[in-house]
Order: sequence, then C-alpha cells, then structure tokens
Amino acid sequence: MKSIVITGGAGFIGSHVVREFVLKYPDYQIINLDALTYAGNLANLKDIEGCSNYTFVKADITDAGHILDIFKQYLPDGIIHLAAESHVDRSISDPLAFVMTNVIGTVNLLNAAKEIWGEDFSGKLFHHVSTDEVYGTLGDTGLFTEQTAYDPHSPYSASKASSDHFVRAYHDTYGLPIVMTNCSNNYGPNHFPEKLIPLCIHNILNNKPLPIYGNGKFTRDWLYVIDHARAIDLVFHRGKLGESYNVGGFNEWQNIDLVKELCKQMDEKLGREEGKATQLITYVKDRPGHDLRYAIDATKINKELGYQPSVTFEEGLSRTIDWYLENQDWLDQVTSGEYQNYYEKQYQ
Ligand code: NAD
Ligand code: TYD
Repeated sequence: MKSIVITGGAGFIGSHVVREFVLKYPDYQIINLDALTYAGNLANLKDIEGCSNYTFVKADITDAGHILDIFKQYLPDGIIHLAAESHVDRSISDPLAFVMTNVIGTVNLLNAAKEIWGEDFSGKLFHHVSTDEVYGTLGDTGLFTEQTAYDPHSPYSASKASSDHFVRAYHDTYGLPIVMTNCSNNYGPNHFPEKLIPLCIHNILNNKPLPIYGNGKFTRDWLYVIDHARAIDLVFHRGKLGESYNVGGFNEWQNIDLVKELCKQMDEKLGREEGKATQLITYVKDRPGHDLRYAIDATKINKELGYQPSVTFEEGLSRTIDWYLENQDWLDQVTSGEYQNYYEKQYQ
C-alpha cells in the first residue's frame, strides 16, 4: 500500500484531487494535510470522509516540527502539494502570509520529505502543484510553454514562482524526485466565492453588483477543476522526474465575455427574463499590477501523456452553476462571518 500526503486537500482543487485519489486508488492510503484556513472546508469532502483509505490531519505547513512529526508517523511515498494562499487580491493586502505559506511552507515540506526519504528515493515522489501566473503576462498573442521565463508580477505569483524554484533546487541539489504542474485558472464546484466565477454566481443569486476590474478585457484560460485533478493524477503516475508540465484547455475568455455568458446561463436556469443578470455588471477600479492575459500551451502534456480535458467550457460552466444552485447551504456557510469583512474592504 502506498501512502500519499495531499496538502491543501480541504481547499477547492485539493478536495477534487483527494476525491479522485481516494476513489480511484483503494490501495493507497490518502492523508489530507490541511490547516483549514478560511479557504479550507471539510464539507467539501463529506461524501468520502468515511472511506477506509482516507485520513484527515489538521496541520500548518509553516510549522516545520509538526510537519516532520506527521511525515515520520505516516511515512509517505508521495506528496502532492497544493496547500497555498491562492488569491491575488489578498496577496496585495497581505504579502507576508503568502511568503510564509507558499515559500516557507513549501521548503518545510521539501525538508521533511528529504529527511524521511534519506538517500533512498526509489518509489518516492514530490509533486508540486503550481500556476501559470509564474510566467507573468502575455500580450495579445502567444502562449506560455514550459520554456517561458518566469516573470511574476503579483505577490501571489512571486511566492509561487519562488516555491517552484525551491522545488527544482531540491531536485538539482539533493536529487529529490520531483514533478511539477503549472495550470491555468480553474473553475467548478467548491470554488471559494472570492474568485471571479463563484463570486458572480453568488452575487447574481443575491442581486448584487458584478464587479469587473478595469475595462474587463483581461483574459484568462479556464479549465474545469476535475480536468485539473485528472492531469495531476496523470503526471503523478507517468510524468518524467524533474520535469514540469503546463496544464490548460486552450480556452481563453476575456473577463467581460465570460461574465456575460455566466449571466445568460444563470438567467435561463433561474427562469429570469433574459438580460436581467447583465444589468448587475459594474465596472470597478482595476487591480494593481493586473496581468493582461494568461494562455497555456498544453502541447507537452498532450503529446507525452495523452492528456485532454474531458469537459467543454459551456458544459463545465453549466455543471458549475447547477452545483451552486443545489448547494446554496455551502455558499451561505462560506459567505457568513469573515467573508463579509473581506468583501466590504475589497469592494467598498
Ligand atoms: P484554495 O485557496 O481553495 O485552497 C488552499 C488550501 O490550502 C485550503 O484548504 C487551506 O486551508 C490550505 N492551506 C492554506 N494555508 C495553509 C497552511 N499554511 N498549511 C496547511 N494548509 C494550508 O486554493 P486552490 O484554488 O484550491 O489552489 C490549490 C493549489 O493550486 C495552490 O497551490 C494554487 O497555487 C494552485 N493553483 C490554483 C489555480 C486556481 O485557479 N485556483 C490554478 C493553478 C494552480
Ligand atoms: P481571479 O478569479 O481572482 O483569478 P486570477 O486573478 O488568479 O486570474 O480573477 C480572474 C480574473 O477576473 C482576473 O483578470 C481578475 C478579474 N476579476 C474581476 O474583474 N472582478 C473580481 O471581482 C475578481 C475577483 C476578479
């Protein structure tokens, strides 16, 4: 039996990765290691929490001693590292929290892996989950490849770039077996409503303004979260040691067009008259240092590992909206309390 620690497994993407591994690999023992920050929610995993190959451990990756104790107890063969502070806007108001979790936390995990694995790396793997934001911004044309030079602009992307460099440095210096994935923007069920798509779904339901930063012409490349989890599974099992893989769906949308598509589908599903939700669109002050365009060239993972997204954007968006409509308790729970203070400060 393989033992695998998945960090950040109570978060948006992590919970889908944990579910994928727990259900698909009954012979693996999956340990979900998560600090349960505002973004972590065990309700995301209700359906699998009773599985015999699943364990939850509450721990903060900035606490090196605790992480080493946990690794000594569970002796993981694999680590899939997703725990992070993940929201660009929060990184602008509190960069240090991003350095602590994303940089120091990652180095603590690398050190703990190195210590328990010693010199024998056979059957061991550290899979670092990163983002396309480390590459900086594109102009109107071009795509990010694995060879694109890192050029981060936000404190979030700077902290993720730094963690990527440490992961590679541990491979090059100590021979630690690593793989890395750099994925584009995800969307889907369980997405915390501080990010564009779930924030707009929540606001449409509550007839609140849909805040569009700047002129709305910023472009992101969107991938359904379950397709990201499938890519992580593939790279974890078949990726080449020491390599990184860009993950994306060749699915670029300008923010304003994406929000209009979302409005159209929401009006239909809610039985509201056409055009009702778009009336809520409100242009607001731009994000400082806002990257114009992200777009992933996913040729390598397609050619080498046969990866393809399984869901079209229209279908994925429809499934996502349906999930939020069926899970309004989840939305109510995560938008009570601290979320209200965050929202007021960010959008007043
Ligand atoms: P999220 O914010 O939804 O979840 C992060 C999880 O990490 C939460 O469960 C939180 O409790 C946990 N966490 C935070 N700080 C911690 C700490 N100090 N110790 C232990 N646990 C801690 O994030 P997400 O959107 O699911 O992103 C997961 C990973 O994927 C991140 O590394 C992110 O950089 C990367 N990524 C995200 C996207 C995206 O579109 N969301 C795209 C590409 C890559
Ligand atoms: P976001 O979901 O925060 O992801 P990221 O910044 O990591 O790409 O934002 C996606 C895009 O939507 C980005 O260009 C910023 C924009 N945006 C808005 O226009 N309004 C908002 O309220 C938010 C949260 C984002």
